[in-house]
This record gives sequence, structure tokens and C-alpha cells, in this order.
Amino acid sequence: MLARDRIVREIHDHGGWISFARYMELALHSPGTGYYAGGSRQFGAEGDFVTAPELGTLFGRTLARQLEQFPDLPILELGAGSGALAETIDREYFILETSAALRARQEERLGKRVKHLDRLPGRWRGIIIANEVADAMPVHLVGWRADGVMERGVAFRNEKFHWEERPATGGLREEARKIRVPLPYESEIGLAARAWMRTLCEHLEHGLILVVDYGFPRGEYYHPQRATGTLMCHHRHTAHADPFARPGDEDITAHVDFSALAGAARAAGADVLGFATQAQFLVNCGITEVLGEANAENALVYAPIAAQAQKLLSPAEMGELFKVLAVGRGITAPLLGFSRGDRSHAL
Ligand SMILES: C[S@@+](CC[C@H](N)C(=O)[O-])C[C@H]1O[C@@H](n2cnc3c(N)ncnc32)[C@H](O)[C@@H]1O
Repeated sequence: MLARDRIVREIHDHGGWISFARYMELALHSPGTGYYAGGSRQFGAEGDFVTAPELGTLFGRTLARQLEQFPDLPILELGAGSGALAETIDREYFILETSAALRARQEERLGKRVKHLDRLPGRWRGIIIANEVADAMPVHLVGWRADGVMERGVAFRNEKFHWEERPATGGLREEARKIRVPLPYESEIGLAARAWMRTLCEHLEHGLILVVDYGFPRGEYYHPQRATGTLMCHHRHTAHADPFARPGDEDITAHVDFSALAGAARAAGADVLGFATQAQFLVNCGITEVLGEANAENALVYAPIAAQAQKLLSPAEMGELFKVLAVGRGITAPLLGFSRGDRSHAL
């Protein structure tokens, strides 16, 4: 069955309307038909997007310097994609991956050194890493209108998906009312990402969680000028804004509201340990020293590594838009990656 048919059936079974969050969940994560069920063809130069670990080893080797502050803690990576980061970081390493196809790809690439978990351990002592995972969590779409808060959902008529609004209810309405925006305004609310963070923190007995992704603190996320939200689709390195175009066959993402993640962590009794741009975090971790280890006299070796640094650090590329959030429990030492330019106060 195609993702599109699966979604149409779901809309039909639910009286003609589903929330956008459900649409996104089915389009991305439905076993067998969702985008991430399709294996790793999405990753890399031939795919739909390139993530930091996919660029090469510079990101992972620099991140490893932060991890070295806690040499005894094992690593648990969530949503490991093609397994590139796990390959770079030489530590006791676990992966929790929701896509069966990607899990098989990771097992093939990484062999026995890495253990796959089927679920989050009841109590975890260690470091959790999630790079570009939070942006793949289903988001609810909200319209703030003069006559109230509406939830934007999906209907199907005349062989096409259509937007259809209903008054927002329950937790969504509550969250939407906390957000101050000029009317009219449309954006996303990541209820699933909040719940995910809360669950991670509840299971974290001791250690830290590093979330790396594109996004903003709340004040920038719901900025008056961002009045149509951040939802984006990615297909073969082209970005567009129509999530109905190719359900199951392309990536759908939203930027991450880091204030919401920090709030969910605090509500679960965890501490916010740092928040910085990816560029600042990597510089603090010593990316220039990692670069210095490369043979700068051999242009053939050096040029690709310098190109990775440019992509990771440049404000026009990933440097500013991508952020690193660290939350934890029982960690008192200041983290290397936030030694300068920590922006936790902006959350
Ligand atoms: C955009 S990819 C990023 C992959 C990799 N971290 C990287 O940076 O290249 C998103 C990954 O998260 C996985 N994923 C999505 N939701 C997840 C969840 N709730 N728990 C664990 N993995 C998840 C997907 O299957 C995929 O492997």
C-alpha cells in the first residue's frame, strides 16, 4: 500500500478529517509506507538532504571532545540515520531507531560494536544524542484567528488533500493560548517533541541529553514576521512548502521550538545545561584543533575537511540556524561546548 492510500483510508475512517500531526506521522513514520520506512536512500548527495554526520567525520570528532568529559558514560543515539555518527565515535554505543529499514542499514554498517535497543531503557545512566531527530516529530498546525484558535487538519475530496480548520481543543488549545502572536498567524506546535523530551528526561537517571537541530528559542520561533510557520518538505535537495505533494516519498519537517523542549525537560525535573548555536558549540569543543590534526600541506586531504568546517560553522549554512541544547540530571561540571556564548537565558 502507498502512504497516500494509507492516509486517505485513515481520513475516511475518522469521518473525513485528521489532524495534520497524524498526517505527518503517517507520511513519515508509518511502518512499511512512511518516508523513513524506505531505508537510507534519503541520506547524502544522492538523497534528499545531507546532515552534519553525513558531511564527513569532522562533526563527530568534534562532538567526541564534549563526550570525553564523561568517559564512563555510554552513548545512546536516537534516530541514527545511515549510522555515520556512530561510526565516528569510538565508545560504548547504543542506538534506538524507529525505522526498521534504517536499523537494518545501521546493523550492516556498524556490526557488533553497536547494540540496538528496542525501547528506551527504564532507567538510563549515560549520554543521549539526537541529531536532526526532533525536526522529524509530527507537529500540530495552528491558525490564530480573530475569532479564536483553530487547528489546521487534512480532508480528502475530489482525489485531493485539502486543508480544513476546526476549533483547537484540549492540550493544543492550551499551548496555543500561551503563545503571543499578531493576528492572523499560522505556525506549528510540537506536542510530540515535548512529550518525547519529557519521556527521555523521566528515563534519564543520570547523565545528559544533547539535541542538535535547526530551530529557535520561542521569541524567534513565533516572531511576528514568521507568520506562516516553518513547515518544509525536502526532495532531492529542493525545499518546498506543500506537504501534500508526495506523502511518503519526501521529508516533511518543522523547525524546533527549543524553549518548548527546555520547558518539557524542566517539567520532568531535569536541568538545562546549555544552549548555543552549532557554530559556537563546535568552536567551544575545539573544532579548530580537530582541523589542525589534518594535513594542511596536502590540499587534496585538507580541502574536503575545510569544506566541512565551512558548512558546519558558516552563518549562511548550518552554523547559526542549527542549535545544540543540553539537558541533564546529576551533572554539575560546566559543559565544554557551552563554555562561551551560552544562550540558555534566551529559552
Ligand atoms: C533526519 S534523520 C537524521 C539521522 C541522523 N541522526 C543524521 O543526523 O544523519 C531522522 C532519523 O530519526 C529517526 N527517528 C524519527 N523519529 C524517531 C524517534 N521518535 N525515535 C528514534 N528515532 C526516530 C528516523 O528514522 C531517522 O533515522
